[in-house]
Amino acid sequence: MSFKKLSLSLVTAALIAGCNSEPVTTTSTVATDSATQAQAAGISQGEYVARLGNCVACHSTLDGAPLAGGLKMAVPMLGNIYTTNITPDPQNGIGQYTFAQFDKVMRSGVARDGHRLYPAMPYTSYAKMSEQDMQALFKFLMEEVKPAAQANIAEEIKGIRNVRWGMGIWNLLALDKKPYEMDKSKSDNWNRGAYLTQGLGHCGACHTPRGLLMQEKGLGHGDSEFLAGAPLDHWMASSLNGDINSGIGRWDQQDVVEFLKNGHNKFGTAFGTMVEVVNNSTSHMSDADLQGVAEYLKSLPARSEAKATPYVAGTAETEQLKKLDFSKAGARVYYEYCSNCHVTSGAGYAPYQPPLAGNPVVMDKDASSLINLTLNGSLRVFSGQGPDVNNMPYFRQLLTDQQIAEAVTFIRSSWGNTASAVTAADVAAIRQATDPTRNDTYVLRMK
Ligand code: HEC
Ligand code: HEC
Ligand code: HEC
Repeated sequence: MSFKKLSLSLVTAALIAGCNSEPVTTTSTVATDSATQAQAAGISQGEYVARLGNCVACHSTLDGAPLAGGLKMAVPMLGNIYTTNITPDPQNGIGQYTFAQFDKVMRSGVARDGHRLYPAMPYTSYAKMSEQDMQALFKFLMEEVKPAAQANIAEEIKGIRNVRWGMGIWNLLALDKKPYEMDKSKSDNWNRGAYLTQGLGHCGACHTPRGLLMQEKGLGHGDSEFLAGAPLDHWMASSLNGDINSGIGRWDQQDVVEFLKNGHNKFGTAFGTMVEVVNNSTSHMSDADLQGVAEYLKSLPARSEAKATPYVAGTAETEQLKKLDFSKAGARVYYEYCSNCHVTSGAGYAPYQPPLAGNPVVMDKDASSLINLTLNGSLRVFSGQGPDVNNMPYFRQLLTDQQIAEAVTFIRSSWGNTASAVTAADVAAIRQATDPTRNDTYVLRMK
């Protein structure tokens, strides 16, 4: 078949795929119906589902009305788009959507007027939602969210680069429209976790590496790259599989629950874009749901570090720092600028001043998160316990690229940590592309 014919048949198939607008029907199961958990949380099922799906993270801004959109998002290589108003306002929002139209846009990215959404809206994940949760979510948006007459902002993608039409073809390659199906060989708890992780929680949108077409390379545990760690917006969303050093292979199920609920555990603290996930979504999950996600994540096998030697704590650098021996590169910068919080042994004062020794994110092969955090600091975690008192200061003005490179290299190679060195050029590139993080604490509003 010639290339031209192939692309033509793809276009036809895509058009046909886009025309199908029957809402899906699914049987209600413990794993795919969020009613019980919502009841436990004392809110409507739809509001709970919206928290699980973290709609606010993208559709609310600090200054705008709840869910009225307006957040700028970059589409790689093309330009910028803005999230849209999803309040029930009939002119600017989704007030004129029927349930069938809503179901379709949430699962296949085809809007009411037929235009196709860019996958910056994680519909490939939301396609896994059950009918019950989708109905509840629609009801919440229509009945509990206040209509806001906030106009949508036009996209900044011009001419030939505007490939909205092409998303139909993209869907054929990257979208699996089937809702989550129970794996009967696994427990209800595991299935609930799989449903939340692959679907509503859209964890893979950040944690799964993307291919040439920006599609997630893997949408479930059968795919080797699912949740294997990926760079996004100059943060590295670390591996969530069983990798022993840079993944969560050394965490137990309760460590995962604690991290998602409170934003920290004995291994580390949430920072970067993960803070928005914890503050607006996972800290609102019921304990049962957190247990589900944790059991599911802990069932993912080690991938790139299947044969690696597990982390062994070391004390050589602690001894040197205590003797003010700064012969190792970066030791002096670390001692002067970092050790008052993270201490000479790299143990921190867990869980508030996180440890750097044995911390998986510190040993990630990609150091972007560490560089970004040291340059710019991090948003404050806000969980059920209130805002964290401590956060990481930013060193953008205080330290040069070379000093930051040395400090980060030092923490990656000390106290038993085994990760590669960072160069001043790595730091310079991220310095140029980023700004210091806001220092206030907030949870975005849904209504
Ligand atoms: C990671 C960011 C992100 C998250 C999370 C997200 N959205 Fe979106 N959403 C977008 C973007 C971006 C668009 C616009 C895409 C475009 O213009 O191509 C959009 C568009 C939409 C639209 C289309 C409205 C229209 O007709 O213009 C609906 C409906 C929608 N989102 C609902 C939701 C709901 C409900 C949730 C939570 C379950 C959610 N979104 C979570 C980014 C997100
Ligand atoms: C908007 C992007 C984004 C989304 C969505 C996201 N994460 Fe993250 N996550 C990150 C980043 C960046 C990090 C690294 C910084 C840190 O450790 O907090 C991270 C770190 C983590 C860690 C800590 C790993 C470690 O080794 O310290 C866990 C656990 C985690 N995420 C779980 C989840 C789960 C579960 C979901 C889905 C419910 C999710 N994440 C969704 C960006 C994201
Ligand atoms: C005033 C105390 C303080 C100082 C000084 C400090 N940090 Fe931090 N650091 C924190 C806190 C608190 C966090 C947890 C993230 C947050 O809440 O912002 C953190 C997080 C980190 C993390 C991520 C670990 C994780 O998983 O949470 C790294 C890496 C890090 N700091 C490196 C450094 C380096 C390098 C320096 C010196 C250049 C430094 N820190 C100086 C308080 C500090």
